[in-house]
Amino acid sequence: MRIGIIGSGNAAQTLGSALVRRGHEVKLGTRSPGKLTHWLEQQNSDDASVGSFRDAAAFGQLVINATAGDGSLEALRAAGSEHLNGKIVLDISLPLDFSTGILTLSVANTDSLGEQIQREFPRAKVVKTLNTVTSAIMVNPLGLADGEHHLFLSGNDAAAKREVQGYLADWFGWKLILDIGDISSARGTEMLLALSSRIYGALGHMNFSFRVVQ
Ligand SMILES: NC(=O)c1ccc[n+]([C@@H]2O[C@H](COP(=O)([O-])OP(=O)(O)OC[C@H]3O[C@@H](n4cnc5c(N)ncnc54)[C@H](OP(=O)(O)O)[C@@H]3O)[C@@H](O)[C@H]2O)c1
Repeated sequence: MRIGIIGSGNAAQTLGSALVRRGHEVKLGTRSPGKLTHWLEQQNSDDASVGSFRDAAAFGQLVINATAGDGSLEALRAAGSEHLNGKIVLDISLPLDFSTGILTLSVANTDSLGEQIQREFPRAKVVKTLNTVTSAIMVNPLGLADGEHHLFLSGNDAAAKREVQGYLADWFGWKLILDIGDISSARGTEMLLALSSRIYGALGHMNFSFRVVQ
């Protein structure tokens, strides 16, 4: 499958490497392709490539948004709605706001970044997921508690969510994936950041995830 990843940071690189290893064709998108030279060399594969945000979106049959939350809308606008329309946009971003010196969210409670993206690109099938764990866990869920922890799916398109559930199981081995509703449910997983950051403070590491028991 051809996958376009909008982003050049740790998450984009980790997802990109894992997907290339799984035999997919992956293009990472950035405003500064030079910063991905090392990543590209490491892949040592014709299946890996780098381009602009627009190049990555045009390339992908599925597009992953792995940009900083405060730049996501700008990055996706640069990618071009014509390259997102009709496609699944798997959105892993968090609307982190560091401006006050205390980590907060730039949007919360009555809205979310997932909803902002869906509103801006109404013909894209935005599925918010993977945003509750680190990039290392995203691509290796079995490395933590034998994979017995939950990932959440938010999105308006039920078929797109089922497709993403299949991909996450197939690509990375995710076992427990819970569809929590339409894209407004992204408020919940984005706001988990308030809890995650405090758990990080308590444990001193980010190698944890969440499990729903009932
Ligand atoms: N890293 C993790 O483990 C993890 C876990 C869960 C969720 N997330 C979320 O995943 C996303 C990516 O995280 P990350 O740590 O890999 O990288 P990051 O440092 O949060 O984001 C880097 C990317 O954001 C783009 N960007 C930043 N400001 C921009 C702007 N004003 N306009 C357009 N693009 C802009 C950069 O573009 P250039 O390439 O052009 O510089 C780069 O591609 C974030 O939203 C983060 O909260 C990350």
